[in-house]
Amino acid sequence: MAGSAIGLGNIWRFPYMVGEHGGASFIILYILSTIFVSLPIFVAEVVLGRKSRMSAAYSMSSLRPGKRVWKFAGYLAVLIPLIICSYYSVIGGWSMDFMLKSFSGFFVRTSTDEVTGLFGNLTDSVWKPAVMHLLFLGVSCLVVMRGVKTGIEKFSKLSMPVLFILIIVMICYSVTLPGAKAGIEYLLKPDFSHLTPRSFAYAMGQSFYSLSLGMGIIITYGAYVSKHENILASSAGTAVADFAFAIFAGLAIMPAVFAAGIEPGAGPGLIFQSIPFIFSKMGENLPVISGIVAAFFFIAVVVAALTSCISLVEVGTSFLSEKYGMSRKKAVLIVYCICGFIGTLCALEGRLFDAFDWFCSNILLLVLSFLVAVFVGFILKKEEVWDNVTNQGQIAVNGKIFPVVYFLIRWVAPIAIAVIFFTNFIL
Ligand code: PHE
Repeated sequence: MAGSAIGLGNIWRFPYMVGEHGGASFIILYILSTIFVSLPIFVAEVVLGRKSRMSAAYSMSSLRPGKRVWKFAGYLAVLIPLIICSYYSVIGGWSMDFMLKSFSGFFVRTSTDEVTGLFGNLTDSVWKPAVMHLLFLGVSCLVVMRGVKTGIEKFSKLSMPVLFILIIVMICYSVTLPGAKAGIEYLLKPDFSHLTPRSFAYAMGQSFYSLSLGMGIIITYGAYVSKHENILASSAGTAVADFAFAIFAGLAIMPAVFAAGIEPGAGPGLIFQSIPFIFSKMGENLPVISGIVAAFFFIAVVVAALTSCISLVEVGTSFLSEKYGMSRKKAVLIVYCICGFIGTLCALEGRLFDAFDWFCSNILLLVLSFLVAVFVGFILKKEEVWDNVTNQGQIAVNGKIFPVVYFLIRWVAPIAIAVIFFTNFIL
């Protein structure tokens, strides 16, 4: 779950969202949204998966058969990851391209002017983003093919600690840059004048996206969680690790952005334009160190993106093998073909990419999360949820925490989601 949560959302999206929405004050909103809305939904998704032991498509309809709305929610839970997987692996492909460039010392050798244009050249190229996307998706699919325990779990257990080490190396380097202080201040000093009602919507959307909620992923992984596991603790653990990583990524990126005099709210291009700029600049004086750190950085980006993409592929795979009884290999191949095709279209046409991202993050994801919260809060009985959380009372859960979490799932989360949903359209 941490593998899924920690991804491009933390490295690529979080820093520019913070940049666009007023620095540390946005981070405070992000923490509040995570505690009061995302975390309860996270627990609800794990409960759904673990209780039904089904793929995301049938988790709800198997627990309460007959109602159309839960069937609809199930299909949504398979559709969303397929769409997201398609364009997410396009970004994965860009990262892979940059990683390969960093291996050859490209950023160090190239002038700062040229290096900032690289991203534009890449996205303008007709075939390269599409090929890199297919390659990236292919690697994710190979891991999923090996199974949940021997593929996904093994890969994540190895890559997550490596990732933390890599990003810490990056921070050490970044904070020593001249002018880094302004970047750290920007991240850690709140400025409430930047906050607008929309900031709330963005903070919550980012928190959902970062914890992989509303996409059927946590439901799918929840189905593999042992009944002896304390899911309140592990959900909180995942959220903390995810947040810590986002902050670390911010600390690695923002000082460098300020040191280079780049606009912090520069949008998605931040890590593909400003970061190479830094490496090129540093390469003028310290070519070896700059080359090594560049390689470390882009390996980190690719590894983080891979474990997230893997979780997206797993949703469709578990659905296909459950519904049609097909082998894992065949199911993964079908997912590869579908996402490979849609992703290639996204790689070729930027507007399609943006449309998918917008539609999934602002609409589909919220609709599914809302339905999950209502299902666990109102359709399942309170005792059923309690039994699942405590494994029939065998897991000691602090008596005061459960009612709070349950209340958040039942009331706070759905209302907050509904408000955000309408805010997105009205404001
Ligand atoms: N949670 C992931 C991240 O932070 C994003 C993600 C989105 C993962 C969709 C899987 C699916 O990057």
